[in-house]
Amino acid sequence: MRNLSRKAEDYLEAILNVSLEKGYAKTRDIAAELSVRPPTVVEMVRKLDAMDLVTHRRYEGVVLTPEGRSIAEVIKYRHETLRAFLTLIRVPDMAASRDACIMEHELSPETIEQIRHFVEFIGTDAGSPDLLRRFEGFCRAKRSRAGAVDGSRPSAAPPGRAARDRPLP
Ligand code: FE2
Repeated sequence: MRNLSRKAEDYLEAILNVSLEKGYAKTRDIAAELSVRPPTVVEMVRKLDAMDLVTHRRYEGVVLTPEGRSIAEVIKYRHETLRAFLTLIRVPDMAASRDACIMEHELSPETIEQIRHFVEFIGTDAGSPDLLRRFEGFCRAKRSRAGAVDGSRPSAAPPGRAARDRPLP
């Protein structure tokens, strides 16, 4: 896949989402999807057009080229995979969407594939509802022990980490 900026990938994904939802993607719809102003969209669409990833037609709006669409589909697949994973580990909806949108650009295909397998495995494994229930209880206990949740200050190092990170004598 072509190496694009995060912003370009976000636009392709947004154009795909809007097109799937409405059947077309006008500048103002893309602007609404990305929470940016229409002139910003026009500028980026021009760049994507120059890269042959979209075409901008007066009445049809912005249309993905075959290459633009296949990149958009990969990003969307990553987004959905990561979102499903974050939801599975009980990240709240808003944070799950936002963080999936950050991670989708950065993680390697191998990591995405393993996360996908994990989500599918948990979804199909008969024992997993119990596992997830126990995980929820575990999180609740951690939270009540730690008071307010602060993701920037883990309450404890992951198992095994302390020994590994200990400076050499
Ligand atoms: Fe996204």
